[in-house]
Amino acid sequence: MSAAPEAWSVERCEVVLSEVEEPSILLSLQAVQGEFGHVPEKAVPLVARACNASRADVFGVLTFYRDLRQAPPPLQQVRVCMGEACQAVGARSLREDVRLLAGDTCEVTDVFCLGNCALGPSAVVDGRLLGRATAAVVARAVANGS
Ligand code: FES
Repeated sequence: MSAAPEAWSVERCEVVLSEVEEPSILLSLQAVQGEFGHVPEKAVPLVARACNASRADVFGVLTFYRDLRQAPPPLQQVRVCMGEACQAVGARSLREDVRLLAGDTCEVTDVFCLGNCALGPSAVVDGRLLGRATAAVVARAVANGS
């Protein structure tokens, strides 16, 4: 599972911004997102000051580029099949192992029959169906972004 982004702090944000070479609004916003996983609203005035720009200019760039996020990225979705066929081949222990491995990096939920009964236990990671799933297979899919 991937490392969690740093928790927001003004002090950390100022350090990140001071390390941007040839600061521009876009590079500064990318640096902030790289550090915190998204660009919190509180970062906008800091970026504006670092780039000698207005808050409106920073907000304009922030909302223009789709790759810049103003909110934390959604958790990855892992659905483990709890249908009878999958339970017969270890779905319950798979679900518990995945929850232990994933911690709070994923949202693990139950689903009932994915139509993949012959290849159970089955799971879905961000829309990708996995058959004969193990916790290691699910963890690898999560790490690879599905
Ligand atoms: S019971 Fe799990 S895929 Fe059908």
